[in-house]
Amino acid sequence: MPDTLTTNSPIIAAYRAATPGSAAASEKASRLFPSGVTHDSRYIEPYGLYITRARGPRKWDVDGHCYVDYFGGHGALLLGHCHPRVVEAVQRQIERGTHFGASHETEIAWAEWVMRLVPSAERVRFTSSGTEATMMAVRLARAFTGKSKLIRFKHHFHGWHDHMTSGYASHFDGSPTPGVLPGVAGELLLAEQNDPEGLARYSAQCLEHIWRAQEFSGWMVRLLHGAPGSDGESLFQDSLRRSRLASLGTSRSCQDWFAEHYVGV
Ligand SMILES: Cc1ncc(COP(=O)(O)O)c(C=O)c1O
Repeated sequence: MPDTLTTNSPIIAAYRAATPGSAAASEKASRLFPSGVTHDSRYIEPYGLYITRARGPRKWDVDGHCYVDYFGGHGALLLGHCHPRVVEAVQRQIERGTHFGASHETEIAWAEWVMRLVPSAERVRFTSSGTEATMMAVRLARAFTGKSKLIRFKHHFHGWHDHMTSGYASHFDGSPTPGVLPGVAGELLLAEQNDPEGLARYSAQCLEHIWRAQEFSGWMVRLLHGAPGSDGESLFQDSLRRSRLASLGTSRSCQDWFAEHYVGV
């Protein structure tokens, strides 16, 4: 962004005085990129730092200042900047080629490492961004379960695609972010953080949805409407209570519970 911040803060004044090179670069960038940055997390007022090089835990800006880097490449640089073994491996590979447009043994070695480090992973799919990863995870979950509703926590960032935008930095009522279709936003339930009761209400809603949609629906409705005060009704209420208390109970376990209590399977 162009530097339009008006403030008499001595901290901002000192920052501007120390970083004329970053100010000049950000002025150019403001004519090239939306908000003047290439990643939203780099949006800083009056402007962000422009970095020329980094090594280990430090990085240097265009004005020659050295900083301890707590950002760590958005968390990706566990080994710091330019670790000699990483540099050597990248150099070795770049001489052999970088994009074969075909399968290669290195991807197998890397996937085996991922599975060693994440023992719950049964298969590995590489993606270019977290946005793609969550988008595919959501699609896979919907395909597998046949359910469309998604519960997300407000303020949590899981990428920029249509299923993840509302409720990250705004639209906490679940209404669509501009450009997102209402039908997509409507499948999203936004939960408060640290609110097990609220989460339990959602799980009860999901339960009702499942009853409406699935094999229990017909006889559940007959049972409840036909016999108020019956065992059936109290079991129904008991199950709702359980789902509220447990809140972690999945639709599958609720179905199992009904199957066990009603049809003895
Ligand atoms: C949990 C989670 N999901 C998704 C993303 C989005 O990743 P990307 O910016 O690579 O699309 C992030 C990024 O910080 C993340 O932390």
